[in-house]
Amino acid sequence: QQRPAVPEGLRRPPGPRGFPVLGNVLELRKDTHLALARLSRRYGDVMEVRIGSRPVLVLSGLDTIRQALVRQAEDFMGRPDLPSFRFVADGQSMAFSPDSGDVWKARKKMAQNALKSFSVAPSPTSSSTCLLEEHVSKEAEYLVTKFLQLMEDEKRFEPYQYLVVSVTNVICAMCFGRRYEHDDQELLSLVNSAQQFDDVAAIGNPADFIPLLQYLPSRSMKLFIDFNRYFLSFLQKIVKEHYETYDENNIRDITDSLIEQCLDKKVETKTAMQIPKEKIVNLVNDIFGAGFDTVTLALSWSLMYLVTYPDIQRKIQEELDQRIGRERRPRLSDRGSLPYTEAFILEMFRHSSFVPFTIPHSTTKDTVLNGCYIPKDTCVFINQWQVNHDEKLWKDPESFNPERFLSADGSRLNKEDGEKVLLFGLGKRRCIGETIARWQVFLFLATLLQQLEFSLCEGHKADLTPLYSLTLRHKRCEHFQARQRFAIKGGS
Ligand code: HEM
Repeated sequence: QQRPAVPEGLRRPPGPRGFPVLGNVLELRKDTHLALARLSRRYGDVMEVRIGSRPVLVLSGLDTIRQALVRQAEDFMGRPDLPSFRFVADGQSMAFSPDSGDVWKARKKMAQNALKSFSVAPSPTSSSTCLLEEHVSKEAEYLVTKFLQLMEDEKRFEPYQYLVVSVTNVICAMCFGRRYEHDDQELLSLVNSAQQFDDVAAIGNPADFIPLLQYLPSRSMKLFIDFNRYFLSFLQKIVKEHYETYDENNIRDITDSLIEQCLDKKVETKTAMQIPKEKIVNLVNDIFGAGFDTVTLALSWSLMYLVTYPDIQRKIQEELDQRIGRERRPRLSDRGSLPYTEAFILEMFRHSSFVPFTIPHSTTKDTVLNGCYIPKDTCVFINQWQVNHDEKLWKDPESFNPERFLSADGSRLNKEDGEKVLLFGLGKRRCIGETIARWQVFLFLATLLQQLEFSLCEGHKADLTPLYSLTLRHKRCEHFQARQRFAIKGGS
């Protein structure tokens, strides 16, 4: 590939010499987040690797990443045109497609408006603070019953398969106003295929960078394409039903709200960037796709840590008993008075770093970072895992210790330390579901832990080894047990 000349006074980002044709693929193909964190110790926060013949900029270190994504936000807000991303939402994904101009901006605004109205905005019709609280409380309560029933019937269970349906039900309630049973086969086959998406969309997948590989038959690529098609057609059906029953005087959910915004000629999305209504399903695809698997992973990793560190689980439960008691269920407004629970969630985000990289970025123009020249259209990887395990930021980063986020007497959460945890990206491309995700994780965990104590069957240990893909997953564990902590007076 022809490289542009570096202007005088600047330098090319340093990086390891790669092999001809392959570049650095061999060093990066396994546990890419670890390999790149290791290389960054040698080459620094702004480093260049080659995947195949394509140069890729890799950013590490919180200050450098803040500089790029926040202070030089415009320069670094693009998305690269990667072959696998063209299959997501038919090439029309807001999150994965190469567009970062006016259409992306209009879509993002619509998605944010719709999300807000049906999640965290005050609910006019319910006794809950907001619809999100209502949906999560209901699903978490259902999970408690489900886990206890599984204990009675089978004496043990594998939690992921139940968490994923509960979390999906929350996003389904917001997007479409519907709920699925835990044995609904159509939903199960969809949510259980998330791994097929993550395997191919994994950051640094050689097939995205080495053209020859795109012409070789690949089972994982076929599964990925099938998954994306199935996902879109599943949503298409529901969106179509919404059109057929749409009533502008009764906006029922996120899908209706998106239809309404498309039809509203007044909104700024007018003129050149008006979103045609056929494209709504792609936006729903983004919200739904990003919303079910990530939150499920957060809860699933949480349970793995809780059974590995029973003392930490006990401390959360003591805090819940003290601050909330046993007479009422936790609410979102309890967040501020449960610092240890909040510290646990931050430590689970940091330690697992289950979204190890952001979605890849690309430069929208020639730019300079830390004295290095970076041409337009350079693909950029942001190593979130490295930030969360950086010895310069964290004492003993490999140990799991929620107390690192608390004041010395344990009474206060240290907000500044919390902001050092990088899991939702930063700047213009920052996750639009961050608040919803954090609130969901809190309320699910608080509701489950108020009532249940989790452990593993005797003789079993949780395997916390992360398996690399777009996300970091743990092996599923079938040896979970749950014990009811106290008899519930009058249900919820
Ligand atoms: C983007 C993390 C939950 C919607 C992202 C990005 C990350 C992320 C790392 C990419 C940022 C970048 O490229 O710089 C997470 C985590 C979650 C979570 C860790 C849960 C714990 C959600 C939820 C929703 C959502 C619940 C929606 C309801 C999105 C969308 C984008 C995005 C639409 C694309 C933004 C864009 O490209 O402009 N998320 N996310 N996410 N997320 Fe999330």
